Amino acid sequence: MSVFRTKSVEQSIRDTDEPEYQLKKRLSALDLTVFGVGVIIGAGIFTVTGRAAQQYAGPAIVLSFMVGALCCGLAALCYAEFASTVPVSGSAYTFSYATLGEIIAWIIGWDLLLELMLGASVVAQGWSQYASLFLGKIGVDWPASLASGSHFDLLAFLLVAVLTVVVSIGIKESMRVNLVLVVIKVFIVLFVIVAGLGYIKGSNYHPFIPPPEHTKAVSGLTAPLIQTLFGLTPSTYGALGIVAGASLVFFAYIGFDVVATTAEEARNPSRDLPIGIIASLVICTLLYMGVSAVITGMVKYDQIDPKAALASAFESVGKGGYATLVAAGAVAGLTTVVMTLIIGATRVVFAMSRDWLLPPGLGRTNARTGTPLRITIAIGTAVALVASLTPIGKLEEMVNIGTLTAFILVSLAVPILRTRRPDLKRSFKVPLSPVLPWLSALICFYLTLNLSVETWLRFLVWMVVGFVVYGSYGYRNARLAGRPRDDDVPSLSTT
Ligand code: ALA
Repeated sequence: MSVFRTKSVEQSIRDTDEPEYQLKKRLSALDLTVFGVGVIIGAGIFTVTGRAAQQYAGPAIVLSFMVGALCCGLAALCYAEFASTVPVSGSAYTFSYATLGEIIAWIIGWDLLLELMLGASVVAQGWSQYASLFLGKIGVDWPASLASGSHFDLLAFLLVAVLTVVVSIGIKESMRVNLVLVVIKVFIVLFVIVAGLGYIKGSNYHPFIPPPEHTKAVSGLTAPLIQTLFGLTPSTYGALGIVAGASLVFFAYIGFDVVATTAEEARNPSRDLPIGIIASLVICTLLYMGVSAVITGMVKYDQIDPKAALASAFESVGKGGYATLVAAGAVAGLTTVVMTLIIGATRVVFAMSRDWLLPPGLGRTNARTGTPLRITIAIGTAVALVASLTPIGKLEEMVNIGTLTAFILVSLAVPILRTRRPDLKRSFKVPLSPVLPWLSALICFYLTLNLSVETWLRFLVWMVVGFVVYGSYGYRNARLAGRPRDDDVPSLSTT
């Protein structure tokens, strides 16, 4: 049996009816859009924007956000087509199983786990920083020995523990919590834009694209791969600075793809998933461009505080009180990101386990909650431990490389499925295929080249581990390998 065996779309859809692996179909288009906004707006806009504007793009950071939106928009169209054609949990993993073959699906599933679990851990640490800042501002001193950067980040641990319980209880319940927090965070982002408008100085936008400057060469493992491969001299600002800014702010857009992981929980997936994916991306793009235009209008780009751009911008105009509000917005905002990433990770493992690439007992849903309880607890525990015990706060780039790889494969898979299965009903279609899907793959690939050599090396190590797991378990035990199933797993109501 070839490692490129594919699972038919019909089979994937039939598997969703298995009673042991049933998720509840409870989500509407609005739920999915809110879910998308919940996971997209997070650490990116609150922390990365300032750094990207100050170090790479200047006021043209708005253009970096446009480039990021273009790249993600193209990928979002591809995700939307797939999700409307194969409305099955697991997102890019499931799509690739139907088109590119099992080994590629495994690579993507493994890669999505990296994106989602590491993303949840990185953002949980960011949350912990904002939470202690916020507590400080309202007069509560959180001990440094239990805060972000210490041996045990208790705040991050507690956050993940509470969210794991919420996610276990049910998808609709998780969505309710999400809705409240998303309303708070969108309100605060809008507040930043409206409150900041009055402090914009036209002169801060000149020059809009600062002239390129050569920067100190970064070398070795921290240099971008493209520089190491082609010996380019690093420069900031100018046109290349806009692209470098885009590969950094890309992190801020990550998440719309997670909407596709909940495909089986949507009431009308073929209509609602494309709406959820595209609407959430459009809303966030507008908000991001608004925030970045305001920040660079309030503060000259070279004086932007790279660590806390939003709060410092208000402090610089004598509105320090607003900084507390920004911290509150970040706390609310990052909470939903962590929660949604955990949900996404559980749904990917769920799909892999239902295909027996991972132990089948793992993915069974609990009859009462309708959630894959064992997986949720396992993933919640892993994320809580990584977030509280390891210094991974700087690994956003790993999340970027994981996501970009998934985008590339999903983009390439769209025209392949069109050729192989022209008969399938597609309620949403990417316009101008195959040109737009190929362009999407190309832009994403270019952005991966801008990531550092060490990120690439870490990514390769993660993938090697993945191959070992596949070779020693998944390949032999997969449903498609045709082995009878070991039915020693306890019955579904016991979890
Ligand atoms: N887009 C998410 C964030 O910015 C990952 O936190």
